[in-house]
Amino acid sequence: MNQRATDATDATILFQPIQVGELNLPNRVVMAPLTRNRASAGNVPNAMNATYYAQRADAGLLIAEATQICPEGQGYIATPGIHSDEQIAGWKQVTGAVHERGGRIVLQLWHVGRISHTSLQPDGKAPVAPSAIRANAKTFVAEGFVDVSTPRALTTAEIPALIESYRQAAANARAAGFDGVEIHAANGYLLDQFLRDSTNQRTDAYGGSIDDRSRLLFEVSAAVAGEIGAGRTGVRLSPVTSFGDIADSQPQALFNHVVERLASLDLAYLHIIEGETGGERRPQPFDYAAMRKPFRGAWMLNNGYDRSMAIEALRAGQADLIAFGRPFIANPDLTRRLRENAGLNQGDPNTFYGGDEHGYTDYPTLD
Ligand code: PHB
Repeated sequence: MNQRATDATDATILFQPIQVGELNLPNRVVMAPLTRNRASAGNVPNAMNATYYAQRADAGLLIAEATQICPEGQGYIATPGIHSDEQIAGWKQVTGAVHERGGRIVLQLWHVGRISHTSLQPDGKAPVAPSAIRANAKTFVAEGFVDVSTPRALTTAEIPALIESYRQAAANARAAGFDGVEIHAANGYLLDQFLRDSTNQRTDAYGGSIDDRSRLLFEVSAAVAGEIGAGRTGVRLSPVTSFGDIADSQPQALFNHVVERLASLDLAYLHIIEGETGGERRPQPFDYAAMRKPFRGAWMLNNGYDRSMAIEALRAGQADLIAFGRPFIANPDLTRRLRENAGLNQGDPNTFYGGDEHGYTDYPTLD
């Protein structure tokens, strides 16, 4: 028996290169998107953000934090956008710094839907959603944590402009120097709200059957892929998370169908959050292999993976890529630490969301 094949301390498999669509990744370590609430006024990325991402550039792929595609897409304070010229210029600093260090970075395209508050919305209006159902959830605004606001349902006539916002955001991401984009369709935000029957009670072509509830994600994905190339487009899904007060009566049937439809677009990758998002890994019964079956692109898994779990998942063929979230906050050189089986710094939760360089760009490397 091959010694290597059973040695969980051997990280060779994590450091095998892989072609993901049009992206050539030197290893299987991905930095998951992490909300850090440190954009400057106008939700513009800044030099501090560029330093933070550049410090982590030896990952196979960086997925930049969730970024609103339009003003209505914002749900928390100081999250960056990709809809203004100033934001595009700000992101150019980030992508330039990452590329200078030899890295690759894609942008996560975000619309929060109902997970927002009137104080964050243009003219203090209600957030938009598939249906006017308020989430039992909180968000963070200038005054601190507050209950999210009751949304209004998007009209059918508004859907083309929404899809156009995603396409324009992808074009803006390309202009900002990103290597691609990830469409955020997970964690109870707008596209996930359309997918699930607890939040989508529409009677038009975008609600009702599983196929109809999947329509918006499919049309958004096709528009984005048409803009920047399917080989530069990924989608993030979280079939069983309840984050953002979301649920579905038939998650397996729903997400099997979603992946089957997305498979026809030849996307670069799908990014799957197993179990609940954030914090501890809490897997729930779900047949991820069945969901994966029709998909030919790269398969990225996320949810509390550590080094040995990542190695095992790659060896078992359960994944092509592993996305690490929280460990990347406190370990700018996480990729090297995984390679060398070095210990990890512990992150300080008090500085996860908002603040300055402290707890952001000042975590120590091995050197
Ligand atoms: C958050 O800001 O808490 C957040 C953002 C995006 C996610 C999950 C959580 O996908």
